[in-house]
Amino acid sequence: MYQKNLHNKIVELLQQQSLDISKKDSAFFARFIANAKAIESLYLQLYAQHPQCDIIWQQLMQLIITAYQQRPQPFLERDTEKLQQEHWFLSNQLAGMSLYVDRFCGNLQNLQNKLDYFTELGVNVLHLMPLFESPLHESDGGYAVSNFRKVDERFGTLKDLQQLQQKMQKQEMYVMLDIVLNHTSHKHEWAEKAKQGDEKYQHFYYMFNDRHIPDQYDASMPEIFPESAPGNFTYVPECNKWVMTVFHQYQWDLNYRNPEVFMVMLDNIFFYANLGVDILRIDAPAFIWKEIGTTCQNLPQAHAILQLIKCCVEVATPGMALLGEAIVAPKKIMQYFGTGLYVAHECDFAYNATQMALQWDALATQDVRVMLAAQEDLARKPYGTSWITYTRCHDDIGLGYEDNSIRKAGYNPYEHRRYLKNYYSGNIENSPARGTLFSINPKTQDARISGTLASLCGLEAALAKQNEVFIAESIAKILMMQAQTFFLGGLPMLFYGDEVGYTNDYTYLSDPGKSYDNRWMHRPLIDWIKNEKRNTVGSIEYQIFAQTQQLLQIRKQLPVLSDYSNITWLTPHNIHVAGFMRSYGSERIYALFNYSNKAAYITWHAFKEHVPVPKKLFNYINQQVYTVGADYEYLILPPYDIALLALQEQY
Ligand code: GLC
Repeated sequence: MYQKNLHNKIVELLQQQSLDISKKDSAFFARFIANAKAIESLYLQLYAQHPQCDIIWQQLMQLIITAYQQRPQPFLERDTEKLQQEHWFLSNQLAGMSLYVDRFCGNLQNLQNKLDYFTELGVNVLHLMPLFESPLHESDGGYAVSNFRKVDERFGTLKDLQQLQQKMQKQEMYVMLDIVLNHTSHKHEWAEKAKQGDEKYQHFYYMFNDRHIPDQYDASMPEIFPESAPGNFTYVPECNKWVMTVFHQYQWDLNYRNPEVFMVMLDNIFFYANLGVDILRIDAPAFIWKEIGTTCQNLPQAHAILQLIKCCVEVATPGMALLGEAIVAPKKIMQYFGTGLYVAHECDFAYNATQMALQWDALATQDVRVMLAAQEDLARKPYGTSWITYTRCHDDIGLGYEDNSIRKAGYNPYEHRRYLKNYYSGNIENSPARGTLFSINPKTQDARISGTLASLCGLEAALAKQNEVFIAESIAKILMMQAQTFFLGGLPMLFYGDEVGYTNDYTYLSDPGKSYDNRWMHRPLIDWIKNEKRNTVGSIEYQIFAQTQQLLQIRKQLPVLSDYSNITWLTPHNIHVAGFMRSYGSERIYALFNYSNKAAYITWHAFKEHVPVPKKLFNYINQQVYTVGADYEYLILPPYDIALLALQEQY
């Protein structure tokens, strides 16, 4: 609702600071007015009861203005370009890769010389895993930040990062970085001051004198790393207090009940925006609000904080899209796109963790019914938002999708998950997968799965046996898994190393800073001699790289693959084949994936359910044209095959 007082206040503030609201800064002014009421009501929803509410409100208004004033000219221009494109990030022209700079090529300077590698593959968005200062052996891969503004010496300097960004922008590439919102390292200046007894900073965290309140929280909070970091609180001997540590003991949870915490973290968000970040990955947003008696995940206040961040970013630095890394149950993930008044106004992106896990489910069972059963929830994604689609990332694979989807497919959820865990950890005779269980909860037997794409698809085992047939089969599986994420709708995010088939790296076991966390087995140290083999025709690296490249090229040729929320899953005609249709205007594409190790038969009837009915279909994968036959005839897909069929002629 429009509010005149707020309007006048903003005009006054902007004029005081010599902003030109009628010309140069008019778009900023318009965005401010459009979002002002939402910003105020979200802020009050969170902080109306706080004694510093008014003072910090003034500071918040000022922070938004300062962030805009400090925005470098090239980013202001890029903001305008992106806004003109309307939802720039839905485009089929984007494809990403997530990587650890040090493990990929040493440091940020070297990365500048590797940009051609990404272009060659067809990747133009880079997710650089956390780069900011983090204690070496207590870093959680950089997710325990001790200084949000200082690039860790391991990677280089802030200047190196800025140079890289500039070079990427020139080459029309995009940067994605993390903001680790939920916690800081116990070595962060705020934590150090809290340890020394500084009350102001003790209020930055959830700190308590004894176990009384921690026990109440613990009663309903699950454990994230039950093996390596059981419990949710850690004793701090320096100040004789208990601090909340949901993840590792060295990661202290920030207290967003304190508006000052919100302010300093928003300031950090703007700092990243003004470094030229195109997509900000908000780490672990599900956890940012805590309430005794709840799981302390996905609470309404956590959503209010994200909505507030979204509104502020939209005003000051609108070219930066937000990705919420909420790896939670499917229905809960959907809420991160915003609900109620804030539909499509919270996170622009979320990880399609459900689909990712369901592809692994289908690969193990050779049955796509659980995947299909879950689509009803995922289809609710609002227009204007998008998925990060992926097969692997730096984290484990959780099997957290709904029991109901498993039941609908006719399986018992407990037994089904047990099978998957055994399959991927190599505990089933003849299972080709080489993974390891991660974070087994001794109380519930819940566990997640670690392992690279190649090892989980059977390449490690096939290489050990020197079995050519199994090698070929594992490569087909790798490509099919990737292809589905490329064509599904969303921004595909490859994980570095997967493009040339890295298998598990077990050297983490002899590193004391890593051995407690088996996720390191799938975070490879790149060996450029291996990556060079992508140029040796016939090598495994060549086969995977060239075909990944081809799949990405196909994606870029077809605007219908942009994420216009334009996916319709096909009625299953064969339980081994996942199939969906993507349509936009008169364009239509059918994508089919055979999850079985045998040829699969799809009746041509499957293509006749939607008008116009196709007469001829062109398969972009093998360049063949098919004539759509009678209902008793079939399209035959070889084992682990992909078909991407475009409407050519219609009846
Ligand atoms: C996110 C990261 C994960 C990390 C956790 C704690 O889930 O992806 O790697 O351990 O947050 O920061």
